[in-house]
Amino acid sequence: MNETIQNNLNYKKYIIDSRLKYFKPHTTKIENSFAKEISYSLTQDSKFISPKFFYDKKGSDLFEQICSLDEYYPTRTEISILKTIQTQLPLLLGGYFRLVELGSGSAVKTRVILDVFDKIYDQIEYFPIDISEILTESSELLLKNYGHLSITGIIDTYEGGLEFIESFDNKKNLILFLGSSFGNFSPDEGKKFLEKINAIMKHEDLFLIGLDLVKNKSVLENAYDDSKGITAQFNLNVLSRINDELDADFDLANFKHHAIYNEKEQRVEMYLKSLVNQSVIISKSNLSLLFQKDELIHTEYSYKYRLDQIEDMMRKTGFDIKKTWLDENNLFVLILVSKI
Ligand code: AVI
Repeated sequence: MNETIQNNLNYKKYIIDSRLKYFKPHTTKIENSFAKEISYSLTQDSKFISPKFFYDKKGSDLFEQICSLDEYYPTRTEISILKTIQTQLPLLLGGYFRLVELGSGSAVKTRVILDVFDKIYDQIEYFPIDISEILTESSELLLKNYGHLSITGIIDTYEGGLEFIESFDNKKNLILFLGSSFGNFSPDEGKKFLEKINAIMKHEDLFLIGLDLVKNKSVLENAYDDSKGITAQFNLNVLSRINDELDADFDLANFKHHAIYNEKEQRVEMYLKSLVNQSVIISKSNLSLLFQKDELIHTEYSYKYRLDQIEDMMRKTGFDIKKTWLDENNLFVLILVSKI
């Protein structure tokens, strides 16, 4: 990113060329929060690290690798559903829509939708919202492949990005929230998030969300503890990130990836287990931490829903369900909704 304009609304704007720009509505807030949140979450009785911190460059690369693992069925299943709805989307959309994506997503999924837009619109506008700057790489490739595409990347949290778009202009938005990222919220956070999206949406906007469904325990546990150990690396990488960015001395060999499916709570739970009694120093936070042997650091919940629970949640948060699509094995669902 070479050209920076600090404008009077106090957000950063980077104009790369006529088809590519980026906004960073809240830069400093995001950067400060890593040190602060880690200091808080690792000094609680039950230690935890928020899953949003998985996605530095290395973590995002590892996540891409997870998405193509045999055991990790969500990505390929969702792509297969997206491909089957390609022919139905033009009819459901009707007029012109801009594409807004929460999480810049895997290029494959975005492309399935862009292929549809490319057929029906002369110009395509794509607004990916992502907290990590990974979206800069994927954007440049997309621009090469779609001649009528322009991209406005928003580097921020989902909420920050959506607020930004709300105040931006009045065009209709098709908002994508794919990959079952919703499952990483607790049901309470998820409900608030849906209410927030609903509040920001216009009545003409559409929201397409992909969610993972409840299924057999061993299928789920294999998906989150794969035989190649990529998910283990992904989980442990958050400790490397703390080492690098906060000047800490976690010894990764002293922690182990642990994933179990909690049937009652309908969620896969991921932890990092301390293999020994140990102490760790986080210099930038002025912290010295003690870990007992077998102590767990909670790193992620991945909630799985039943279709009736999803429909109920959508209605209760102010949405009208336009269409529901499942794959043939009922592993995953895509739901298209509008604001009531
Ligand atoms: C991003 N998110 C939806 C993934 C999931 O399935 O919960 C993250 C992930 N964690 C382990 N594997 C994949």
